Amino acid sequence: MRWFNTTLSIVKDTIKEMFTNHFTSFEILESFKIADIGCASGPNTFLFMSEVIDTVYNLSNQNKSLEISIVLNDLHKNDFNNIFSALPSFYKQLQEKHGYEFSQKCFISGVAASFYERLLPCKSLHFVHSSSSLHWLSQVPKNLENKGHIYMAKDCLPHVFEAYKNQFYKDFSSFINKRSHEILPSGRMVLTFLGRSIPDPSSNDCCCLWELLAQSLLDVVSQRLIKEEDVDSFNLPIYTPYIDEVKEIIMNDMSFDVKKIAIFKHNWDQDDNDDKKKSGEIVVNFIRAVTQSILVTHFGELFLNNVFKRYAERVTNHLKTEKTKFIILTICLMKK
Ligand SMILES: C[S@@+](CC[C@H](N)C(=O)[O-])C[C@H]1O[C@@H](n2cnc3c(N)ncnc32)[C@H](O)[C@@H]1O
Repeated sequence: MRWFNTTLSIVKDTIKEMFTNHFTSFEILESFKIADIGCASGPNTFLFMSEVIDTVYNLSNQNKSLEISIVLNDLHKNDFNNIFSALPSFYKQLQEKHGYEFSQKCFISGVAASFYERLLPCKSLHFVHSSSSLHWLSQVPKNLENKGHIYMAKDCLPHVFEAYKNQFYKDFSSFINKRSHEILPSGRMVLTFLGRSIPDPSSNDCCCLWELLAQSLLDVVSQRLIKEEDVDSFNLPIYTPYIDEVKEIIMNDMSFDVKKIAIFKHNWDQDDNDDKKKSGEIVVNFIRAVTQSILVTHFGELFLNNVFKRYAERVTNHLKTEKTKFIILTICLMKK
């Protein structure tokens, strides 16, 4: 994700702050325990580990025996095989950078489970990271009647907004509660996910992209390639919260202090170039990568190329008239 590097600097600063203010006696810190939650299995999985290990290496000069444990979490269907088969070359790079002895003290493991459940033993983590994952709900809100839409949209029925918000409250509360058991006192969490910039849940910065996808599905319905009732019964299991909603849940749980909140805005299209067709394709490739598997499960594979062709056209047209941004929320929490 394009904003990954921006939020990595918050991760590194948080770890530096922990080592400066909380681990004053390096002798007693034998192992720094980290979890990357919703890690996926792509380049960012390794970029995160590499940057965090480098940061801890630089901070642990006085403590040659410090060990690092990184637990990678994602759902069972995540390609953990891809991660584990790339580990030998990852360790080789670590050895080249920091020497054999240090590389032997980095322990990487995986936990396949939903982050809305308990993942690890009580008080077993110093630092938890999650990037681009927590806007995924545990399920589509139940009993949605959302004809012609696949997410919240300007002209949705009021119960749709309520149902999405309630599902997010349930899921995010559960996430916070489960992590509160696993993180040691003064431990930190840096969480980054998609959100929205204003309280209105029908605002363009959270709905527009998905509404264009809904319209593209309906385009393909009008070509009689997919059924209208299949679009009516499809809704995305995501929620893009307003920051106050996130803060309210954290306050209600009472286990964490909010140390920092950052709200980033990233243009949908990567650069300010004039080639809106290319920009549209970039946005659509990104959305396709994260939605392909649920779309295939619901609609089958056959006509998805038609849907994404229409989607690219619609996004391109949208970008010609409007600059729309992704809103990214990063929140840094400290366990009480
Ligand atoms: C867009 S990827 C983010 C990958 C990586 N963290 C990054 O920033 O590039 C979102 C990941 O969250 C995972 N995910 C979604 N819901 C989850 C859940 N309930 N428990 C664990 N992982 C989940 C997905 O399987 C996916 O791998």
